[in-house]
Amino acid sequence: MSERAAHILDEVRKYHQDIEGGRAFVPGVTEIWPSGAVLDDEDRAAVVEAALNLRIAAGRSARKFESAFAQRMGRRKAHLTNSGSSANLLAVTALTSPQLQERRLVPGDEVITVAAGFPTTVNPILQNGLVPVFVDIDLHTYNTTAERVAKAVGPRTRAIMIAHALGNPFEVAEVAQLARERDLFLIEDTCDAVGTTYQGRPVGTFGDLATVSFYPAHHLTMGEGGCVLTSNLVLARIVESLRDWGRDCWCEPGESDTCRKRFGYQMGTLPAGYDHKYIFSHVGYNLKTTDLQAALGLSQLTKLDDFGAARRRNWGRLRAGLADVPWLLLPEPTPGSDPSWFGFVVTVDPAAPFRRAELVDFLESRKIGTRRLFAGNLTRHPAYLGREFRVCGELTNSDIVTDHTFWVGVYPGLTEEMIDYVVASVAEFVRARS
Ligand SMILES: Cc1ncc(COP(=O)(O)O)c(C=O)c1O
Repeated sequence: MSERAAHILDEVRKYHQDIEGGRAFVPGVTEIWPSGAVLDDEDRAAVVEAALNLRIAAGRSARKFESAFAQRMGRRKAHLTNSGSSANLLAVTALTSPQLQERRLVPGDEVITVAAGFPTTVNPILQNGLVPVFVDIDLHTYNTTAERVAKAVGPRTRAIMIAHALGNPFEVAEVAQLARERDLFLIEDTCDAVGTTYQGRPVGTFGDLATVSFYPAHHLTMGEGGCVLTSNLVLARIVESLRDWGRDCWCEPGESDTCRKRFGYQMGTLPAGYDHKYIFSHVGYNLKTTDLQAALGLSQLTKLDDFGAARRRNWGRLRAGLADVPWLLLPEPTPGSDPSWFGFVVTVDPAAPFRRAELVDFLESRKIGTRRLFAGNLTRHPAYLGREFRVCGELTNSDIVTDHTFWVGVYPGLTEEMIDYVVASVAEFVRARS
């Protein structure tokens, strides 16, 4: 790095400290966000350094991040995308690749998923002409169970795609075992659960594919961004092809002839020797990210353990503080898990003398941000009415979540003072109304 660039980056770090330092928490005035990016001077310097180098497309930093993140997550390959939703789209679409031959999913095949969750866990199923099969969740863990998934398997079922709910894992070892026994693909949507373990093993390592989001609310951020993880090299090539316009070639931008036979292929009905860089083996997309984002990701990655520890601490403080408050169903980690929490979920007992809306309004009036368990029961949303899907069992708890559940933040930017204020505010409201 030139002396001039080093000087600029030093100034950037100082600038960061000047503008970010020392804002006191004022209860009821300072916003307590449910989630947010925690960015330090090194993060700011990393983005500026990438900008100084005009690394505006995906290149060196993207490759470096992919390799570091795959290693960190215990998978052989990671492919960066422009969002977690794009990662989900790629993961599901990969299962429809002709390269999987008789194992490929075809329109009308079923994918088991959860009704109460984030829409883009489910949308790629529909977008690929596949049929979602919705199962219910448990209250307390907000996840489905292996038993429910097993019951939902039918003659057309070919895959399972489930998100680990707000950092809490579903029974992923048991579901992976079921998938193996029934020859089903398993995709773990790990967007909200990077760093979580189940039976001592990191989530994202149980399924054929796993996805991650790097939106600011998530465990690591790049602003916008996502990732598909896999240890299956066939799936990895398919994901890369689908992400990069559907091309057959795997040269990085600016490279040619990595395979040493750029003009040596004959594919489809193309003439022999057609430039491999322009042979397309999938009907693909362009869902790539940029080095500016990857540079931020690399800087964030060094803090993953600290972020996870803070999330666990904040969740534990809320859990202990609210333990004796009546009328609230408090969250529980899935047995055998160590969640790196995304949020702290609360369900207001349907028999309580107050409604969720009243408690949420009170908290919001105190600048305590709240969120819903995303869509609640997705099948009730306008987008899904009239779409083809199957429901296995009743969606009773998904409906309870739709009507009675919300969550507050645990992200590393929250202080003990803030968490205590959240606890005191919830307790004050509930006690006044009981
Ligand atoms: C479980 C889950 N899956 C997928 C996504 C989509 O990620 P993105 O916002 O990066 O598209 C989210 C977003 O919060 C999510 O919570």
